[in-house]
Amino acid sequence: MNEVAKGAYFIAGGTGGIGSEVARRLRAQGWDVVLAARHAARLEQRAHELGARVVPVDATRPDAVTGAFDTALGEGSRLLGVVNCIGTILLKPVHLTSDEEWRTTLDTNLTSSFLLLREAVRRMMTTGGGSIVFCSTVAAERGLFNHEAIAAAKAGVEGLTRAAAATYARYRIRVNCVAPGLVKTPLSQFLTANEAARKASVSLHPLGRLGEPGDIASAICWLLSPEQTWVTGQVLHVDGGLSTVQAR
Ligand SMILES: NC(=O)c1ccc[n+]([C@@H]2O[C@H](COP(=O)([O-])OP(=O)(O)OC[C@H]3O[C@@H](n4cnc5c(N)ncnc54)[C@H](OP(=O)(O)O)[C@@H]3O)[C@@H](O)[C@H]2O)c1
Repeated sequence: MNEVAKGAYFIAGGTGGIGSEVARRLRAQGWDVVLAARHAARLEQRAHELGARVVPVDATRPDAVTGAFDTALGEGSRLLGVVNCIGTILLKPVHLTSDEEWRTTLDTNLTSSFLLLREAVRRMMTTGGGSIVFCSTVAAERGLFNHEAIAAAKAGVEGLTRAAAATYARYRIRVNCVAPGLVKTPLSQFLTANEAARKASVSLHPLGRLGEPGDIASAICWLLSPEQTWVTGQVLHVDGGLSTVQAR
């Protein structure tokens, strides 16, 4: 087992489908894990299930993000890694997208990543480095029908990833991104619970099934692992082939 004194992983969106699975895997390896999300009751439930620490935060608010890191690391714990598993899915063409939907999409996906990155690197620069992993989407790479706002926000996350990887490489801070296809989580339930929509989505993925949270979590955990220290600035597509493969 790894010792708590070796440091902690901070998982924003740690109560969600993918974030919970990342936390479960890190806890199984004995790491100290801090889950961050907005709803206190869900945080407490996950904390109890996983033996993780929790910190409530709205990750779109700068002061709240700073406070969450202060709380999480207050006892002198070193920050080993940060994952952003916060996100939205808005399936609307741009002519029907409201100002508020656009702002919420950018805030939840891109601003949260900027704020988490800023707090993380400020700490990791003085403690010997670490690993930061963001979640993008296949829609940032491939033009998908009705995905304008989310594609723009996640393309921003991918740009943030590459630039930060360049800036902080000298501090041994690695910054990477995982870009999923459609994964069965609470976020996508409105699509996967509908049989016709589910079948249509499956048919888009060359490997013939939707993603499971573990498909994405295993990639994130690989990017976080202290055994893997020579990958940075990458967008890893974990999408059943959707972004790059045409099977027939
Ligand atoms: N599922 C998919 O098909 C899919 C596809 C492509 C990309 N992704 C990306 O993968 C990542 C994980 O998605 P998921 O499917 O696991 O989502 P999910 O199950 O909906 O979980 C989202 C998590 O983020 C938290 N959260 C939401 N807004 C927040 C905020 N403002 N501040 C703090 N926490 C917030 C939620 O908890 P609270 O509500 O309590 O805050 C929850 O813990 C996201 O970045 C998503 O964009 C997912």
